[in-house]
Amino acid sequence: EKGTYPHFMLKEIDEQPFVMRRIIQEYQDERDNLKLDEDVQRAMMACDRIYIIAAGTSYHAGLVGKQFLEKMAGIPVEVHVASEFSYNMPLLSEKPLFVFISQSGETADSRSVLVKMKEMGHPALTITNVPGSTLSREADFTLHLHAGPEIAVASTKAYTAQIAVLAILAVGTARAKGLELDFDPMQELAIAANAMEVLTDQKEAIEALVRENLGTTRNAFFIGRSTDYFVCLEGALKLKEISYVQAEGFAGGELKHGTIALIEKGTPVIALATQENVNYSIRSNVQEVVARGANDMIFSMKGLEQDTDAFVLPRVHELLTPLASAVPMQLLAYYAALHRDCDVDKPRNLAKSVTVE
Ligand code: M6R
Repeated sequence: EKGTYPHFMLKEIDEQPFVMRRIIQEYQDERDNLKLDEDVQRAMMACDRIYIIAAGTSYHAGLVGKQFLEKMAGIPVEVHVASEFSYNMPLLSEKPLFVFISQSGETADSRSVLVKMKEMGHPALTITNVPGSTLSREADFTLHLHAGPEIAVASTKAYTAQIAVLAILAVGTARAKGLELDFDPMQELAIAANAMEVLTDQKEAIEALVRENLGTTRNAFFIGRSTDYFVCLEGALKLKEISYVQAEGFAGGELKHGTIALIEKGTPVIALATQENVNYSIRSNVQEVVARGANDMIFSMKGLEQDTDAFVLPRVHELLTPLASAVPMQLLAYYAALHRDCDVDKPRNLAKSVTVE
């Protein structure tokens, strides 16, 4: 039920801080220590490489998850688009572990990889919002997203839940391997939940940005570096999916290799600047596009902001910035679709779960 909300998507965006807190609870023991299923821990310890398989938004969460698993748990990770995996199957390591990320647990492209990998005898873990789903039943292990039903076709709370559960998977594995982390992950997730709550209260500011900058545009670029780049891919997917604006996410450093040719007077360029180590370089990319007439909107993080930024996010741990930056990206898409009278919850040509290959 959407209650007083005009759309499921807006309700689901607003639910994100609560979903974060539920995830923290569900993955904590009675002494507030992180709790990760022992079989999952064993599988993580036994593998020498992780292959993440997913589609769409779940694939974008996988790109963020790779950073967690490599940086915190020290396991090499490859992230693959499910529908492409069979054509360009990589040489597998000796002890691969397959991790399927799927909100619905029913995506046919992902399932077909799962079936093949099981036939080859490889272990599989599914991270899903629907524990009884096909991908959950057919894998060896399941981690639940605890996001509650997601009705809008555009995935929002499942994306941030996937990122949080991937962080927990990485931290739990690091602990099991005896690796030390220099921060308290559960506390940082709680801080991120609070940041999400602050952000969901800033709808008017985002709506105003949409009105000023995305009103009639036919295209929009999202640029970022490092983790911000992955959130740009997701921000662009959200916008194109529900508002039909042609939007693409680009790595800041790639612009000069071709894409910058597309910049014209007034082209909206949304830039994410939430990472200290790339703050300088992404800002120089923004200058490059502004010099060619682009209409820039910089979303930065407290502590890294400059006067001309369009929006400043509350500070969260640098590994968890997607949890915060995703929220204004979702709201941008929501209001862009709303102002164009698009069917926000049921965009044309799309289904909530894609059960055909
Ligand atoms: O249920 P899944 O997570 O497997 O779905 C994968 C994609 O179809 C899905 O994320 C899609 O990209 C969303 N509609 C994006 O908002």
